[in-house]
Amino acid sequence: MSEQTVQIRTSGKVLQSPCGPIVHGLEDVLIKNTTISDIDGEKGILWYRGYRIEDLAKFSNYEEVSFLVLYGRLPTRSELKEYERRLKSSRDLHPATVEVIRALAKAHPMFALEAAVAAEGAYDEDNQKLIEALRVGRYKAEEKELAYRIAEKLIAKLPTMVAYHYRFSKGLELVRPRDDLSHAANFLYMMFGKEPDPLAAKGIDLYLILHADHEVPASTFTAHVVASTLSDLYSSVAAAIAALKGPLHGGANEMAVRNYLEIGDPSKAKELVEAATKPGGPKLMGVGHRVYKAYDPRARIFKEFSRDYVAKFGDPKNLFAVASAIEHEVLNNPYFQQRKLYPNVDFWSGIAFYYMGVPYEYFTPIFAVSRVVGWVAHILEYWENNRIFRPRACYAGPHDLQYIPIDQR
Ligand code: CMC
Repeated sequence: MSEQTVQIRTSGKVLQSPCGPIVHGLEDVLIKNTTISDIDGEKGILWYRGYRIEDLAKFSNYEEVSFLVLYGRLPTRSELKEYERRLKSSRDLHPATVEVIRALAKAHPMFALEAAVAAEGAYDEDNQKLIEALRVGRYKAEEKELAYRIAEKLIAKLPTMVAYHYRFSKGLELVRPRDDLSHAANFLYMMFGKEPDPLAAKGIDLYLILHADHEVPASTFTAHVVASTLSDLYSSVAAAIAALKGPLHGGANEMAVRNYLEIGDPSKAKELVEAATKPGGPKLMGVGHRVYKAYDPRARIFKEFSRDYVAKFGDPKNLFAVASAIEHEVLNNPYFQQRKLYPNVDFWSGIAFYYMGVPYEYFTPIFAVSRVVGWVAHILEYWENNRIFRPRACYAGPHDLQYIPIDQR
């Protein structure tokens, strides 16, 4: 890169560099055109393929929404039936994947999920065929069909991977998927070995709908970067899972509920919120967003669901009460007001899960169970006009140093 010095304003967003402006964290940098989802961060609106998530949450289910996200339109009744049949017939895992999950039974499930997705990809014959075609630069109708088939398999298999990890971690027998249950109900059934309460199944379904896509957060961007090298869909999804795992992204749902449990008492909310306003203090998990400068619409919907859930089943650990007190403090604190920091989707989502008996380590894996459709839809969209991602960094160190042998240093 040129050594000419360019004067640029140094702010949180743009960093000074001798080579040119560095958009820190790629804020507002556009990477492609998309028709998958759109966010109005100022108004707090989210659309999938043009449909408001409030409508999808009210009228639809994950099967239909995942079809919409993947194929770009709502299915007809017969298309939906056929799609559901394909998902149900793809829920089982390769024996090698089951062994990988068993070997990682004591690890955090996000590690196991990442490894399980990679393992499944290594043994999926469709994936191997697609890899061979991509190696010679062939991506025509036949390969696209294969890619969509693989995308559906990933959507079908992630719930099984997460549920099996839970069973292994508890030393329990595996529960095979059941064809007569919906995506959400079957997931809870595979975890707990009994048909779920209808409100719990609805909660999981709602969560899956609300997390299906979100334009290009870190995990989806990671999926693009990996897929842009013409690596395969499974590897791209495994990488996306690795990105999702961090507490600044999907890992925040686990951290939020852990905070509520630790506090345990709404009267301590102010202290926690104040601590997050101090320089160098811990960030308040489940609050703030790169794009939303308003209340996250997904959080609004999940807050309502959490309220209904605790109204029916109680709030014995004070999770809803503590979260409500934290929200009140955040919304009335000048630090959060000035920075336009509001509760995000991760703020409310874990409360009902916790009361369903889902341990908090499984909250982020369930995020992946939903978001997998967004990842694969974005990859397939990008592959229509693929170009490898290859940005630059501004080198700020010395050049042409003299090598000094080790015994002379
Ligand atoms: N608690 C306290 N201060 C915060 C928080 C928070 N949760 N979020 C942002 N800030 C402050 C930040 O310190 C900075 O202050 P200053 O201007 O004085 O330096 C200002 O607000 C802007 O924040 P930023 O870190 O530059 O914002 P970003 O766009 O880089 O990061 C974020 C966005 C979501 C990573 C961040 O808000 C955060 O860390 N939130 C907590 C983690 C979280 O809830 N993540 C889930 C995000 S939504 C779902 C998902 O993506 O998975």
